[in-house]
Amino acid sequence: MKASQFFISTLKEAPADAEVASHRLMTRAGMIKKLGTGIYTFMPMGLRVIQKVERIVREEMNQAGAIELSMPVVQPAELWQETGRFDKMGPELLRIQDRHGRDFIVQPTSEEVVTDIARQELRSYKQLPKNFYQIQTKFRDERRPRFGLMRGREFIMKDAYRFDCDEASAKASYQVMAATYRRIFDRFGLRYRAVAADSGAIGGDLSEEFQVVAATGEDAIVYCPGSDYAANLEKAEAMAPAVARLAPGRPMARTTTPGKSTCADVAQLLDVPLASTVKSLVLATEQLNDAGEVVSCQVWLLLLRGDHDMNEVKVGKVPGLDAGFRFATVPEIEAHFGSKPGYLGPIGLTLPVKLVADREVAAMADWICGANEADFHFTGVNWGRDLPEPELVVDIRNVVQGDASPDGKGLLVIERGIEVGHVFYLGTKYSQVMNATFLAENGKPAPFEMGCYGIGITRLPAAAIEQNHDERGIIWPDAIAPFTLVICPIGMDRSAEVKAAAESLYGNLLAAGVDVLLDDRGERPGAMFADWELIGVPHRITIGDKGLKDGLLEYQHRRDTAATKVTVADAPDFLKVRLAA
Ligand SMILES: Nc1ncnc2c1ncn2[C@@H]1O[C@H](COP(=O)(O)OP(=O)(O)O)[C@@H](O)[C@H]1O
Ligand SMILES: [Mg+2]
Repeated sequence: MKASQFFISTLKEAPADAEVASHRLMTRAGMIKKLGTGIYTFMPMGLRVIQKVERIVREEMNQAGAIELSMPVVQPAELWQETGRFDKMGPELLRIQDRHGRDFIVQPTSEEVVTDIARQELRSYKQLPKNFYQIQTKFRDERRPRFGLMRGREFIMKDAYRFDCDEASAKASYQVMAATYRRIFDRFGLRYRAVAADSGAIGGDLSEEFQVVAATGEDAIVYCPGSDYAANLEKAEAMAPAVARLAPGRPMARTTTPGKSTCADVAQLLDVPLASTVKSLVLATEQLNDAGEVVSCQVWLLLLRGDHDMNEVKVGKVPGLDAGFRFATVPEIEAHFGSKPGYLGPIGLTLPVKLVADREVAAMADWICGANEADFHFTGVNWGRDLPEPELVVDIRNVVQGDASPDGKGLLVIERGIEVGHVFYLGTKYSQVMNATFLAENGKPAPFEMGCYGIGITRLPAAAIEQNHDERGIIWPDAIAPFTLVICPIGMDRSAEVKAAAESLYGNLLAAGVDVLLDDRGERPGAMFADWELIGVPHRITIGDKGLKDGLLEYQHRRDTAATKVTVADAPDFLKVRLAA
């Protein structure tokens, strides 16, 4: 490609709403252009990156036996009503009507349509397994679209749906796809981790997220440096403390804590570690009758160590809370605790509540909690002496750095990640509700076993940039760079030698299959280098009059601090080595 025949449009200033490097740099490099909130045009330079991402994904998916198709972006509501998602999904699902007033949705994902295809087309176990995938536009009316392509409303996803005849083969398929994802992510040339993720109502452990490691990531990923344990924060288990609970060391005392309604304030006032305080979270569950009216309400008290955070996913799995919960209202709290929020605790309640103690809290001695009276806390509280031993002791907190790894092989480390892929064993969740069956080997109809496998095609370049940039711009891994190499001739319009050398090298590299761009725009060197450093092309060759006199060119990798001189004759071989590295 010659720059004069391409479209290059770089900006000095980043848009005001760009909070992260990838958004700033992709906009400044002329890769994306905002059309509306969370809606971007992929400009020619950006589209090249996206197409390279797609190519890697396609090659590996095809290699793994997946078959590409393309499902409509606009889908009739009927299928989505069959699974109930038309009503159940929140405003994230974009619902539209046609001229006849019929309901449609814009696909956020395509389980319904693909399951409908399977129930029509895959009639016998002999046709299984089948793995259908598409690389297609998605729309999710995200509550907080932000960070450019990172969390857009319109974006491109690779979504694959695998149909198997039984659980064993579906689980084997899952392993095949997890391995395929590792190959795909290895090829992108990014530092990533595959982490165990929560698989929601499906159960089992067959859900992994592929997270690109970056300080600006929205997700916390947890791993053990001494083993291959890795999970996201929702999933990572906090083990019970290894050391047994100490015996009570102090008497319980009602202590005055005027105006100190948070654990942090109380710890500061009493000059004790935050870890010796216990916080009370009050939840409520509702029992409904057939008409959907609330017939009764149960209030729950969750106890967490003062410096720990509640993990909503874990709480949602506690028996009794697993059908849905909400935070209790202030009147509910006052009715049960006889106190306003801020001074709550498990001792001296007005009405009974269900108590859930985090594993860590159950192992504490001489702790501090609210006294159910404004401006007072109890200190020196001990299980078994001041209140009954907790009946329900579960893991309901987020792990923190330094916690023991669940596999017992060391301490956990937490870093930030960007979720770019997700592999998920679905079971018969969709096939059951959509009555999607095939004739099994025993001659009877059986529901398909399914798995779904996504990759955020347009999120990936953003994640790559978050991980690889500097103050001058983007630094692409070769595999997904818009161009692998740029030739920057200096004074090409003035010097016939420079022009000839540049065009000859350009021709050679093209013939060798290198994705090379010749910058024949006639820009000044400073402006030209600034553009390519911003755009992030990894390899650069500079050709100037002065060097040519000695038969020399200059090579510089985007990460190099200085250029390397190479003779014109050696250049092709030299580049072959560099480009293969
Ligand atoms: N709003 C978005 N913008 C860009 N990419 C997205 C967006 N939402 C999801 N993706 C990408 O699509 C992949 C598959 O989506 P999925 O796992 O269904 O999303 P989520 O984890 O948000 O429920 C995600 O791993 C992510 O890379
Ligand atoms: Mg996901």
